[in-house]
Amino acid sequence: MNYEERLQNVSVLGAAGKMGSGILLLTAVEMADLSLKPENKEKTFVLNAVDVSDQALAGLMKYLKTQVQKIAEKNAVMLRKVYQDRKDLVENGDIINQYVFDVLTIVKPSTRIEVAFHSGLVFEAIIEDPATKIGVYTQISRNNPNQPWFFTNTSSIPITWLDENAGLGGRIIGFHFYNPPAVQKLVELIKATNTLKEVEEFAMMYAKNLRKTIVPAHDVAGFIGNGHFMRDILFSTKEVERLTKDFSFVEAVYILNRISQDYLIRPMGIFQLIDYVGVDVCSYIMSVMNPYLPDEDLHSPVLDKMLSRDVKGGQFADGSQKDGILKYEKGKPVAIFDPETKQYKAISEFQAKVEERLGPMPVVRPWKTIVNNPAKEELLVAYFSELKAQAGMGADLTKAYTIRSCQIGKKLVSDGVAFSEKDVNTVLLTGFFHAYGPINNYLN
Ligand SMILES: NC(=O)c1ccc[n+]([C@@H]2O[C@H](COP(=O)([O-])OP(=O)(O)OC[C@H]3O[C@@H](n4cnc5c(N)ncnc54)[C@H](O)[C@@H]3O)[C@@H](O)[C@H]2O)c1
Repeated sequence: MNYEERLQNVSVLGAAGKMGSGILLLTAVEMADLSLKPENKEKTFVLNAVDVSDQALAGLMKYLKTQVQKIAEKNAVMLRKVYQDRKDLVENGDIINQYVFDVLTIVKPSTRIEVAFHSGLVFEAIIEDPATKIGVYTQISRNNPNQPWFFTNTSSIPITWLDENAGLGGRIIGFHFYNPPAVQKLVELIKATNTLKEVEEFAMMYAKNLRKTIVPAHDVAGFIGNGHFMRDILFSTKEVERLTKDFSFVEAVYILNRISQDYLIRPMGIFQLIDYVGVDVCSYIMSVMNPYLPDEDLHSPVLDKMLSRDVKGGQFADGSQKDGILKYEKGKPVAIFDPETKQYKAISEFQAKVEERLGPMPVVRPWKTIVNNPAKEELLVAYFSELKAQAGMGADLTKAYTIRSCQIGKKLVSDGVAFSEKDVNTVLLTGFFHAYGPINNYLN
């Protein structure tokens, strides 16, 4: 099977989920573009959108239609060439509608996994549960005569473990999209010990056609992205526990969130990021990674405490942020959950007092003003040299956080998770939108 043949019958599992819906959109467009090539006019392209709920699939089809419409509007000029033989399509609107129709015609929503028994390629983006994933692969593999390939979006389970436990003989690769897949440029590519060469080659070509940036990672639980993120969470939650000797819990959370956003010049603070991903998801990812990392204990009592109070974060269906460890108004944190009183405490009640305790700090350089600034490097060097010279609690915490993040990054290389320091930095720059990579010399 060549590239196009492999893409003639594809299934996305978990298609109505956060990741699956984006993967479905990208794959539907790629397949439709292939189907519209003159030489493919007689071929059939089928993309099964598989999920467990009919209702979720109905919502998915609406999402897909809106997104494809936007893509078509953006590419109207190019689409005019694609449809140049269609004299009936005169106005831009006709062409856009035709493209939406052609993409949607390929997509077949279904709650039945049996539809994947005919696919040559299966994208899997179901829940992060090792046993469920194995069950699904085994069922499809046993009943599918095409020896299908599995592209898993797992963000923590080793691919070799999945390969061996589902008996796939190397027909699997970790193709780790970032959230949301349609927007994020980064894909971490993780080969199992036995991943077939042709599976890897196809993955590289598919990523190239989707204009994604590939960073390869070794097959170690959590890979690079969660390898850094989960340890970053552990560092900040341990710092919160340490600071509660001198501050209240909500004050300590405020401090770490403030340091990790404003003073580390990141797009959001660590507790906002935990809420964005979901407190339960972060805690769960740690528990999935833990058994594969015998020398470490990836586990946070602070997250446990939040979850025991049903504080979860995550997003509403429209993508807006749910309250979690932080409470949000118009997307901005305004209060912090106090697990003792089980109530949110307004930041404005203690902010001034805590800021005073943080002491002198460099002038804040908001992330937005730095991240795409052509003079970014000079600005960062100047900022960190100012920070280095500063004394006080806030400056010390910022320095410790910067050093810890760098250590985590270097450990990912020395533990053989990342191939290079550059790869670690690319993941944090591209996948987490950091303004600078964690492995740097700013504080040397
Ligand atoms: N959310 C993220 O930021 C993110 C980022 C990278 C990777 N991932 C990984 O992507 C995968 C999916 O995560 P998500 O956040 O999209 O989860 P999600 O809960 O939003 O979506 C999972 C979907 O799978 C469906 N599902 C569950 N069991 C199924 C089954 N047996 N067959 C078919 N569908 C089934 C659910 O109904 C749901 O729609 C996980 O492996 C996760 O680790 C998530």
